Amino acid sequence: MERLRVLVTRRWPEAVELALAERFDAVFNGTDEPLSQAELAQAMGEFDILCPTVSDRIDADVIAGGDRVKLIANYGVGFDHIDLDAARANAIAVTNTPGVLTDATADIAMTLLLMAARRAGEGERELRAGRWDGWRPTHLIGSALKDKVLGLVGFGRIGIATARRAKHGFGMRIAYFGRREADADVVAELGAEYHPDLTGLLAASDFVSLHVPGGAETANLIDAEALSAMKPGAYLINTARGGVIDHEALANALAVGELAGAGLDVYPEEPQIPAALLGLENVVLLPHLGSANSETRIAMGMKALANAEAFAAGKPLPDPVA
Ligand code: DGY
Repeated sequence: MERLRVLVTRRWPEAVELALAERFDAVFNGTDEPLSQAELAQAMGEFDILCPTVSDRIDADVIAGGDRVKLIANYGVGFDHIDLDAARANAIAVTNTPGVLTDATADIAMTLLLMAARRAGEGERELRAGRWDGWRPTHLIGSALKDKVLGLVGFGRIGIATARRAKHGFGMRIAYFGRREADADVVAELGAEYHPDLTGLLAASDFVSLHVPGGAETANLIDAEALSAMKPGAYLINTARGGVIDHEALANALAVGELAGAGLDVYPEEPQIPAALLGLENVVLLPHLGSANSETRIAMGMKALANAEAFAAGKPLPDPVA
């Protein structure tokens, strides 16, 4: 039987590329350079399955490029880089990789929170630049975590996993904002306090961590007004999507000391970093490392593969988003 043609837009872990090559007529991107919009559009007419990731913009023009692709098996849980309406209008199914990157992303949220609270980036920069002149009682004083309130904006899988680490590992108190109250067992385990409105959560939290999907619904959710609702001296952590924050407003709040610090893993126009942030000492900037451990990246690829295999076999897709 003829094998379906699959295009993988970036390098994936070797084990997953090998598994894909066994089952499909797969084309890999040996250079790992992002494909242009024109190359992505052309692929729509040449392959049966497209396997993009967050660094590819699969917009309506790309989707209109050809009518052969009938599955977009995204490598990653977020799918705001894919125009779902255009995919649906062209009868293209879209899948993602939920579940397998929960722990890795929660670990990075806590990494950012600790680095911001304990000024780890500042300290490392100082030391490497030869500016550290020794221990003193008032040097790089940060904030404790115990008994501080961590406010989660979005309380899905990753938000809850972050709350667990904060509560059970660091003795933080947990509050959250979401569309609905969490399950009773989660609330009981975490002693989590529900805030039905965002402003209430922001005003009650010493640390705020964002865990909502990207896209139009959450664009600039944390704008100047939201930032001014936060406690003076609070911290903001983002491992969700860059578009959720107005970064100019955030840079202002950090520069004038309204916020004590921030930790960011994601940006609106990656890999560009909003210029206003680069000169600030009190923001930790990571290059979208949320899912970057070897076990997770392999599991993400295997999930995309499972979706492609189900599609090839005409079975229900395990992780449909459109
Ligand atoms: C995702 O999966 O959406 C992440 O942002 C990339 O790891």
